[in-house]
Formats: sequence, C-alpha cells, structure tokens
Amino acid sequence: MRAYEKVLLLVSFLTVLEVAWSTGERREVMNPGSPSNVSKNDQELGKALLVATYSFNNQSNDAYLFKTSEVDKAQRQIVKGIRYILEVRISRTVCLKRQGRDLLDCDLQPEGLLHQTFQCHFEVLSLPWLHLMTTISSHCQD
Ligand SMILES: *[C@@H]1O[C@H](CO)[C@@H](O)[C@H](O)[C@H]1NC(C)=O
Ligand SMILES: *[C@@H]1O[C@H](CO)[C@@H](O)[C@H](O)[C@H]1NC(C)=O
Repeated sequence: MRAYEKVLLLVSFLTVLEVAWSTGERREVMNPGSPSNVSKNDQELGKALLVATYSFNNQSNDAYLFKTSEVDKAQRQIVKGIRYILEVRISRTVCLKRQGRDLLDCDLQPEGLLHQTFQCHFEVLSLPWLHLMTTISSHCQD
C-alpha cells in the first residue's frame, strides 16, 4: 500500500469514527446506511428539530412562530453525514414573528381560533465535523 493510500484510508476511518462518536451510538458504525430510531430525549435530535422548525417559520407567511408540539417518529441514518428523518406535528405559538423572541420561550396557542397544527415530514442533514445542520426536505399539511 502506498503512503497516500494509507492517508486516505486513515481519513475515511476517522470520518466514520467521528460520525459514530458524535451520534453517541457506536453500533451505527457496524450498520451504516440503515435508518434507526432516535430517542426523543436525544440532544442532537433537539437541534435537528429546531433547524427544521426555523426553516418552516422562515418559509411560512404566518404572523406567528410555530414549534414542535409532538414527535411522532424520529430516525437517523448515516449517509455522507447524519440524516434525520422526522415525522412531527408543529403548532402555532403565542409569539409573533416580529417580536423576535426565542422559540424555546414561546408557549403553544391554547385551544381556540388561533390554534393550528400541521403534520410535517422533515429531513435534516447534519455534518458534525463542520458544525453544520441544514433542512434538506420539508413537507407539511393540515
Ligand atoms: C429565510 O428565507 C430567505 C428567503 O426566503 C433566505 O434568504 C434566508 O437565508 C432564510 N433564512 C434562514 C435562517 O433560513
Ligand atoms: C421506531 O419508531 C416507530 C415510531 O415511534 C415505531 O413504530 C417502530 O416500531 C420503531 N422501530 C424500532 C425498530 O424500534
């Protein structure tokens, strides 16, 4: 094996290791490519949900911010990064967009005229070694 081949091998090995490390689930190293369920308390899942709701809010014309009200399904798959596949419900909060409040401080609308929930399918790609998370797919319906 030539020297540069050894370096390439080492780099790809380190990348896989880093993915495994950042997801905190070693067994995924053995099982790249197949989606596996993510615990609802997972910290990285929390970040992925925020990234998805931020892009939803950015694209909606609603005067109010929406946030996740229910996580129906959350999976993670290793493909050039970590892909989060999310089935969630997001609901209107009491925060007006123009107030510029932090979404985490916004309560959901109480039952009534302004109460509204969408069923969404989001996909978020995380590249932990670049500290990057981005929404790659977003579909919501009433
Ligand atoms: C929000 O959307 C605008 C245009 O639709 C885009 O230029 C901007 O980068 C988006 N911001 C975020 C934080 O996604
Ligand atoms: C993954 O989660 C979904 C929805 O929460 C559940 O229906 C399914 O049985 C879970 N699969 C495994 C392998 O735990």
